Amino acid sequence: MVKITYVEYSGQAHVVDVPQGATVMEGGRDNGIPGIEADCGGGCSCATCHAYIDPSWVAKLPAKQPMEEDMLEFAYGADLSRSRLTCQIKVDGSLEGLILHLPVRQA
Ligand code: FES
Repeated sequence: MVKITYVEYSGQAHVVDVPQGATVMEGGRDNGIPGIEADCGGGCSCATCHAYIDPSWVAKLPAKQPMEEDMLEFAYGADLSRSRLTCQIKVDGSLEGLILHLPVRQA
C-alpha cells in the first residue's frame, strides 16, 4: 500500500492507502474521496479525474503521454504546469507520500 493525500478544494485532506498497481484515480474513487468523478472509468476520455499535483511532486511523476496531454485541454481550470489526469498515474512505491489537490469542480 502507498499513502496518498487527496486534498479537497475546501482544504479537507484525506490520507488513504492505495494498492500498488491501482491508479491514483482509483485510489480516490474507491475510498470515496469527494471531487473525483472519473466518468469514463479510467479510459482517458472524460477529464473528470483531474487534479493539481502538489508542486513538490510535479517533477517526480512519470511524464504525460500525448493522450493525457490532449484530454487535459478539456479539464476544468487546468494548470498545465501541475495538472494531471489521475487515471493515467499508476501507483507504485515511488509515489509514497504523494499529495494532490482537487479542483473546485470537474466540468
Ligand atoms: Fe476519465 Fe480519467 S477517468 S479521463
